[in-house]
Amino acid sequence: MSAFYHVFKTIAFQFDPEFVHNFSLNLFEEIPLLAHLWNFPCDNSKYSLEINGNTWDFPVGLAAGFDENGKAISFFTKLNFGAVEIGTVTPKFQIGNEKPRLWRYPGEESLRNAMGFNNLGAELVYQNIAGANKNGKIVGVNIGKNKLTSRENAAEDYQILYDKFAGVVDYLVVNVSSPNTPGLRDLLGREFLKEIFIGLEGGRKKNPKPLYLKISPDQDFQHLKDTIEVAKEFGLSGIIATNTTVMEARGKGGISGKLLRDKSRTVRKFVMDRIKEVDHMQMIAVGGISTFDDIWEHWKAGGKLVQIYTSFVYKGPSILLEFKNEIDRILLKNKMNNLNELLENIKDAQR
Ligand SMILES: Cc1cc2nc3c(=O)[nH]c(=O)nc-3n(C[C@H](O)[C@H](O)[C@H](O)COP(=O)(O)O)c2cc1C
Repeated sequence: MSAFYHVFKTIAFQFDPEFVHNFSLNLFEEIPLLAHLWNFPCDNSKYSLEINGNTWDFPVGLAAGFDENGKAISFFTKLNFGAVEIGTVTPKFQIGNEKPRLWRYPGEESLRNAMGFNNLGAELVYQNIAGANKNGKIVGVNIGKNKLTSRENAAEDYQILYDKFAGVVDYLVVNVSSPNTPGLRDLLGREFLKEIFIGLEGGRKKNPKPLYLKISPDQDFQHLKDTIEVAKEFGLSGIIATNTTVMEARGKGGISGKLLRDKSRTVRKFVMDRIKEVDHMQMIAVGGISTFDDIWEHWKAGGKLVQIYTSFVYKGPSILLEFKNEIDRILLKNKMNNLNELLENIKDAQR
């Protein structure tokens, strides 16, 4: 159905990006069965990976920010995503930054956004997630502080959100890496991060769920090292790398897609080299992933899971079929039965 998406995109790209985003989400919310347009026969047991107690039945997830409020979970989980990440959610409703706040760079298959965590707030998003048909898929939530919450009270926001969502999601992500909430990236500093995770300790004991930290591609290596150490110290399940990058020459906000790819890869390599010896820690790769080569590179480096956002906008849902076909080809070539076997023997596997 890539031809259908091509037509949809040609028309949609004549309109304002945020209008199209909201229009599409409303459509997917109202008619989740639309997912059948792009669905393909798939024996998901072949692609299943067990990660920190969660079974991802396909190694590609939908990144945060697409379905901020969890309105179209039923649609996205019917596509062949292995997981869908809702959010970023803040404790209270937030309108986000001034419009316009989303821009396309079609020639570079990239986007720039300055959304600023526009979301309905914890209570309504909680109800959306709790009431959704998840089609047996993994659903995570990405949590962030309200814009008006001071640095001193930031840890409390994360605590409220962890406690609220831990009962209805499969994993949570602490987001301190969006460039669109003033001062948020300051929380990536070692002391603030520690404060956040100390605040989450009680909730994690009561209701243990895999917990990830989503990082920025714009940190220097010293900061990155500190961040990784904190993640290890607090027994996190892993790191999601990366969020969008600031390119001042392009304007405010964060860049995603192909323009982000190289920066994101550099950060991912740095992170992977430092966490691969920790058994329970995963690095979920996100940032400029648009071809199977990008996934293959992540696997060869020792990773398993990836997420996409911008390439999903440019290529449409059939990108998942493209990935599945490549996995099938490689399994055949290596005479292997499933993805788990491939990843266990990835060092010797042939592309
Ligand atoms: C419009 C837009 C909104 C986003 N909103 C969020 C968000 O709320 N929280 C978050 O953690 N990441 C957010 N992201 C970042 C994506 O989850 C992802 O990390 C980033 O776009 C890089 O992946 P990509 O190159 O595949 O798009 C957003 C990205 C875009 C384009």
